[in-house]
Amino acid sequence: MSTTSPVAPCDFVVFGGTGDLTVRKLLPALYLRDRDDQLPTDTRIIAVSRSGLDTAGYRDKMRGELGRFVATESLDEAVLDRFLRRLEFVYLDATDHSTWEPLTTLLQEDADRIRVYYLACAPRLFGPISENLAAHGLVDRSSRVVLEKPIGHDLASAREINDAVGQVFEESQIFRIDHYLGKESVQNLLVTRFANSVLEPLWNSTCIDHVQITVSEELGVGARGEYYDTSGALRDMIQNHLLQVLCLVAMEPPTYVDRESVRDEKLKVLQALKPMTTEDAERDAVAGQYGPGLVNGAAVPGYKEEANNPDSRTETFVALKAEVRNWRWAGVPFYLRTGKRMERRHSEVVIAFKPVPHPMFPGSQGTSEPNRLVIQLQPKEGMRLHMTAKEPGPGGIRLRPVSLDLNYTEAFQLPSPDAYERLLMDVVRGNPTLFMRRDEVEAAWTWVEPILNSWAGSERAPRRYPAGTDGPSDAATLIERDGRTWNEGAHP
Ligand code: BG6
Repeated sequence: MSTTSPVAPCDFVVFGGTGDLTVRKLLPALYLRDRDDQLPTDTRIIAVSRSGLDTAGYRDKMRGELGRFVATESLDEAVLDRFLRRLEFVYLDATDHSTWEPLTTLLQEDADRIRVYYLACAPRLFGPISENLAAHGLVDRSSRVVLEKPIGHDLASAREINDAVGQVFEESQIFRIDHYLGKESVQNLLVTRFANSVLEPLWNSTCIDHVQITVSEELGVGARGEYYDTSGALRDMIQNHLLQVLCLVAMEPPTYVDRESVRDEKLKVLQALKPMTTEDAERDAVAGQYGPGLVNGAAVPGYKEEANNPDSRTETFVALKAEVRNWRWAGVPFYLRTGKRMERRHSEVVIAFKPVPHPMFPGSQGTSEPNRLVIQLQPKEGMRLHMTAKEPGPGGIRLRPVSLDLNYTEAFQLPSPDAYERLLMDVVRGNPTLFMRRDEVEAAWTWVEPILNSWAGSERAPRRYPAGTDGPSDAATLIERDGRTWNEGAHP
């Protein structure tokens, strides 16, 4: 039985229509929603760009790209033909008024329908594009604008962008995308916590020793060096994806899962993060940068070479210790870690419980390790609870570690849709629950900025780590100094 229902017809306008994000993520996601009959016949996808293409050329090019970025088993020639017929290409220079007429004419063919403006372009264009949309009469109450991250590069620039876009669109029309919130596994954090009664009573500083959130990638920066070199892992991953995951782990139960309640609770977590001073940042935040190394047996270049900047001090790895200063989490450290060109791709949340209060079994019978709940976000989605059990056998009691495993793919026999599939449909439906509100983005920047400033003012370059490893040794020191270790090698 289908679990999807069609959304309203709309014009989906993508600024940056030939860019990497559009080709790799947005069009494949829309194609898959079309395949599942979620897009009404008259939904149009209008790619806007300065490239020298026309609609026929764009459709041709996208036929090839969809062949690359949609899994072969999901490609269906008839659906592909139908999907390609939805595509229109319009030449437009976002900052040049004189080039806006063709888009205006096209959109005015049916002025009543929902218009989604997806800004898959440089953040400096978010304000000018919004102004131009308004100036050409292309914004009404049913229009929505989607802003890709990064929203600025610090608090001041984020505010500037939010102000400029806010001159044209109401907050309820602005969808700031953080694709981690569209991941099945990330949404499942909410369900795991709040649709089961066994975990919530343990979910606090009485029972939990610490929390770890790791997002590690095998890929390097590849062709994105120009953007990445002005960003770095703190801006690219921590400010948004990892802090959003932290919020879902740490937040209080919202009264409802609706557009404001969830975001209100996440905001409270961001506001409760203990601000870092320069000294805190020096001690509790580690920056790393990958050098050449071996990933899956293949030699790969170092970051400086990939980014084509021999003097780059941009971090490709961050490990840090955060504190959520509230009643539930007082004294429970949250260790966050993310990096590119790591040994393997895996993302997980580890809830490390406290040890038993009294070690009843003599040491000769083995040790009881504190329980750990490992929630694996990707590549496989699952959950593993590490327990201690009695080793079977007649000769007295011996303790042995054992785990309870839940593998979602096996349990449900259903593939997980890509995050963008869910989020794009939410935009058309006008449901912003899984999008970042202005105050969340700004609270996240407020917390991250002192770390950025501390690194910018420091003589110390990011610690080097060879590609294909677990990051610099300082990251291990950061957690080991507190008598703890990163969860390694224990994944489903
Ligand atoms: C993006 C970052 O937001 O997320 C990339 O800009 C990163 O640098 C990517 O590679 C990771 O997303 P995922 O879904 O592959 O974990």
